[in-house]
Amino acid sequence: MKYNTEINRRFFMKGTGAAALVGTATLTGCTEQAETIAQETGAPASTAMEKVNFDAGYNRVGTNSIKFDMIKMFNPDNQLDVGMGIADMDFRTLPQVTAALKKRLETENWGYELPPLDYPANIVAWNKRRYDADVPQGNILNSVGVLDGVLSTLNAFGQEGDHVLLLTPNYSSFFTTIHQANMHEAESEMIRNTDGRYEVDWDDFEAQVAGGIKLFILCNPQNPTGNCWTADELRKMGDICNNHGCLVIADEIHCDFVLGDNKYVAYASLGEQYAQNSISYKSTSKSFNLASHRTGYMFSHNRSYIDKVLKGGHQRLLLNIMGMIASNEALKYGDDYIDEQNAYLTENAKYTEKFLAERIPLLKYKVHEGTYLAWLDCRELADKLDVITKAAELTQYNTENNITATDFFGVTSIKSYTGGSYLKKWVLDNARIDINPGENYGKGGDGFMRMNLATNRATLTKALQNLEAAINAI
Ligand SMILES: Cc1ncc(COP(=O)(O)O)c(C=O)c1O
Repeated sequence: MKYNTEINRRFFMKGTGAAALVGTATLTGCTEQAETIAQETGAPASTAMEKVNFDAGYNRVGTNSIKFDMIKMFNPDNQLDVGMGIADMDFRTLPQVTAALKKRLETENWGYELPPLDYPANIVAWNKRRYDADVPQGNILNSVGVLDGVLSTLNAFGQEGDHVLLLTPNYSSFFTTIHQANMHEAESEMIRNTDGRYEVDWDDFEAQVAGGIKLFILCNPQNPTGNCWTADELRKMGDICNNHGCLVIADEIHCDFVLGDNKYVAYASLGEQYAQNSISYKSTSKSFNLASHRTGYMFSHNRSYIDKVLKGGHQRLLLNIMGMIASNEALKYGDDYIDEQNAYLTENAKYTEKFLAERIPLLKYKVHEGTYLAWLDCRELADKLDVITKAAELTQYNTENNITATDFFGVTSIKSYTGGSYLKKWVLDNARIDINPGENYGKGGDGFMRMNLATNRATLTKALQNLEAAINAI
């Protein structure tokens, strides 16, 4: 069998560690299976399992969840009714995932182990079936998380001190990842339309790329603005980058979340010139709420880019077996789950728009296109609360009285506030919900807040009612 031949040849390659060996073989073997599955037009037949009732939600308090338990840990004096910060979901995962993990748990040995042999084939099949996007199976790499893959890429393609372009507002941890690579962010602030959609400032984008930036992180769909970038927009970004030798780093982790009639267009599917100058990053972690499994993947149609990432030190690790089993099951059986989840999340977004328009007109929001993250315009609320002045006063008080806070890594410092973090504190203190300040997302984020809608309607209603009561009491 071709797979075994591949393994045997690699096993005896001098200087190749067992983990590196299997990590590489994992994603380059199984060609026949990939072709067979990829050629199928429909999803593989699922084993009979009950469906997930998204409306039932999932109580995550007491599970060490970051969204609920960590927020409570750092705010012990606060009541927290609803965590809506970090981007994960309060839903059960796909039952086939849980069943497969339970089955694996029954095997009481955890030695080195191959991933499910059809995992790469299922990555290829999922992308083809759902998005008509071709993923070159031989060029897929494991990645612990999407950000780990992005970091490897920055390190491999850039130099310390380089600038990395982001369309802002954009995902806050990109800034951290860029700094981890000892690089700097270059922000091209987007233009917000009257309907709340964000558009690229093309003159600025082109000027920055033409000015010498060689790395552009695309977020498609974009967290936190919710843009499902159209093919035309993506081509325009790609043409500018290709004309100036700028690599497109396409983070498409949110691609499975598309609301209403919107569409996700895979960047690498736009044509050869775009595919050849890009690397794409994906996982099942957002789509099926598997983030704690730390299992992602990346690929490029350009083999030399993959080799460059590998030479740059990307770990060819085997990932945790449970994560790969979970991802594999999700990709095999998850079509209906994603469709039903998107329908539920679309209704959540509509519900939020209506609730805010009718009952909290101070906050502005229109149903967005992709992701489950609502980007709320809270500028009038921020002005009403005079957050900048209040943040300065509170910081001064804390400084004078040596009031400190200790972060997750044990670093203690004076508890200081910005306008955004004061607004977050105000919402937690008064509405007992946790949402993220827009300033974390770069230029254009001041006065906005990101609310995670991936919860059941009852919990969402509770959060919105709390917010309404808090604002009415100002
Ligand atoms: C756009 C985007 N990329 C990456 C991540 C993090 O992915 P991972 O945990 O796989 O590194 C997130 C999480 O919120 C995200 O929104």
